[in-house]
Amino acid sequence: MADMKILMVCLGNICRSPLAEGIVRELAKQRSLHLEVASAGTGNWHTGQAPDHRSIAAAFAHGYDISMQRAQQFHPKMFEDYDLILVMDNNNLKDVRSLATGPEHLQKVRLFLGEDQVQDPYYDDQLFEPVLLQIEARAEQLLFELEMQS
Ligand code: 4NP
Repeated sequence: MADMKILMVCLGNICRSPLAEGIVRELAKQRSLHLEVASAGTGNWHTGQAPDHRSIAAAFAHGYDISMQRAQQFHPKMFEDYDLILVMDNNNLKDVRSLATGPEHLQKVRLFLGEDQVQDPYYDDQLFEPVLLQIEARAEQLLFELEMQS
C-alpha cells in the first residue's frame, strides 16, 4: 500500500487523539502497512506535554506505549501535510473545518468513528477504558478498509 499520512485530532491532544495515534501506528506496524500517523489538538493548552497519565496507563494495559508522544496544536498547514484528518467529536469537526480554505481541505476531514463521536474522558476516569476499546475497534476496521483499498 502507498504511504499514507493520517492526523488524529481532538481538543487537548492529551487523551483521545494520542490513543488513536499510538494504536493505529502500532496496529499498522503489526500488519506491515506503511502509514505515517500523528495527532494534534484544536486547543493549545497542552502543547509539548506527554499524554494524560490515564491515557498512558490505559494504553499500556493493552500493550501500547504512547508515553513518548507530545501534544501539538492543529495548524492549517496540516491540511497540506496529511491525506486524512480524523477528528474525535463534532466540536473538533467544526473547529478544524473552520480553518479550511478550500474543498480539498474539507474532504480530508472526517469523524474517526464515521458517524459516532469519541466522548471526551478528561473529566471522568471511568471513561478511559471504554474510549480505548472504542478507538481500538475502529482502528482495526480502518486498517482493514485501507488494506482493501490498496
Ligand atoms: P482530549 O481531552 O481532547 O481527548 O485530549 C481533553 C484534554 C484536556 C482538556 C479537555 C479535553 N482541557 O480542557 O484541558
